[in-house]
Amino acid sequence: MRASLLKIALTSAALSMAAVPALADDISFATSNTVAGEHVVLYLGEDLNLPLQMNGEIADDIERAIEGSGFTGAFGTSQNFFGLGDKKSVTVIGTGSDTLTRRHLHDLGGHTVKAPGDGKLSVIVEDLETDSETPSAELALGYRLGSYRFDTYKTGELPEDRDVIFISGDTGAADDLTDTDYAGLADAVDMVRDLGNAPGLEIYPETFVERIRKEARGIANLKLTVMGVREMERAGMGAILGVGKGSVHDPRLLVLKYSGAGANDAPLALVGKGITFDTGGISLKPNSGQWLMKSDLSGAAAVAGTLISTAKRGADINLIGVMPLAENMPDGKAIRPGDVLTTYNGKTIEVMSTDAEGRLLLVDAVPYTIEAYKPELIVNIATLTGSAARAMGDEYGAVITRDFELAQTMMEIGERSGEDVWPLPLHPNHYDQIKSDIADIKSTAGAPGASIGAAVIGTFVEEDQPWVHLDIAGVDWRDSATPTAPKGHAGWGVRFMDQLVRDYEAK
Ligand code: BES
Ligand code: ZN
Ligand code: MN
Repeated sequence: MRASLLKIALTSAALSMAAVPALADDISFATSNTVAGEHVVLYLGEDLNLPLQMNGEIADDIERAIEGSGFTGAFGTSQNFFGLGDKKSVTVIGTGSDTLTRRHLHDLGGHTVKAPGDGKLSVIVEDLETDSETPSAELALGYRLGSYRFDTYKTGELPEDRDVIFISGDTGAADDLTDTDYAGLADAVDMVRDLGNAPGLEIYPETFVERIRKEARGIANLKLTVMGVREMERAGMGAILGVGKGSVHDPRLLVLKYSGAGANDAPLALVGKGITFDTGGISLKPNSGQWLMKSDLSGAAAVAGTLISTAKRGADINLIGVMPLAENMPDGKAIRPGDVLTTYNGKTIEVMSTDAEGRLLLVDAVPYTIEAYKPELIVNIATLTGSAARAMGDEYGAVITRDFELAQTMMEIGERSGEDVWPLPLHPNHYDQIKSDIADIKSTAGAPGASIGAAVIGTFVEEDQPWVHLDIAGVDWRDSATPTAPKGHAGWGVRFMDQLVRDYEAK
């Protein structure tokens, strides 16, 4: 039995603890006859047939308990029974009646987190109707994603972690897949959640870079470079520099380059908005809810997470991650509404609101990425607009692109990944709306806000360059949990972009 996933205790004070992953249950795999636990989880379909392993006296007890409970086996429902036979608890979780996809398995794994029992939890994986060859690895990934906690700033007694053992016939394969691949993916999601949950006091451009530097160290074929103010000035990135001017923390441009394929293979490029705190700047945001803007780095964090997990598993692809980082603060040195900034490719932009700062990062970073790396596809990901959040709610990230087929591909990738996207429009009129009286374009123009934001970025992308804009303002943060994402920062985008990378890798 191999302990596949890290278990680390937190001991010291807040600032130094921040880079330490949160406590996590210790997940492992075992074959049927090696473990018998006091706390057991069973997955049952709507036929309510028990796994063969449960045969014997206790099977009758369980069947009788289920009968009286109203449990139907409907997907995602569960019921806890206490004191049956020699078991302290038996939890049954419904798998419904459809063939289980990977995504279903992740959700079931997430539901398993709620099962009672400390010390040791035995999860019996038998007779699942699924198209996955390693259902226990998928369940374990879901469990791991669902069990995240951010307790960096909690003092006093923390809830105990427990040993979770998935008992199945696919032990060896599940253990391999977890060790070589899924543990890295789950670690990346945890890292992104840690970054999004962390206060702005702690995460600013410099500390964001240092945290990623630490995570990326020693990973084969992954190179990290950073542009500081001097380098960005030389490159002409007046928009990123403009956004950073009001902060005591200088902006940065962080680049992660993973070379997993031939040198002539055009890379896939991911560009993420990294505003480490968004006050709105001189166009100050109202104070209600402003604390949430500590997570305005969600795009950049998800890009970093995707690069690190892709490199860790040694994927056969060239992948570029570009993360413009700045803190948007009001100050005597801050940019003002009405200011004009000169961007990387020489186009000028009139700043209508300093609170529309995300697009300013991207109008430098996106054309820079295209010119420097000539990607076959560029995807930018950003908590760009409240407008997208209002339109999409918690369920979908917004995808905006000129090419509807690409939007459909993204929707299909999203569905498989467990992180859904749905298209919003980009119309030629949206480009007309951002014409400026005094500069080449202006940064905002009213409604429809998410599309206008995309048009600003799109102005800096040639028509023939495959380009996808993801506005994740609605999905990066959750007010309520899902099976695989607790309340708080969701780490949204790692699973989506991971699936995108896997699809491009296979091409
Ligand atoms: N970071 C915000 C968008 C946001 C809002 C993210 C709510 C998550 C939750 C972004 O920088 C912003 O302030 N956008 C403005 C744009 C407007 C000034 C054109 C907005 O949406 O109000
Ligand atoms: Zn913002
Ligand atoms: Mn803003």
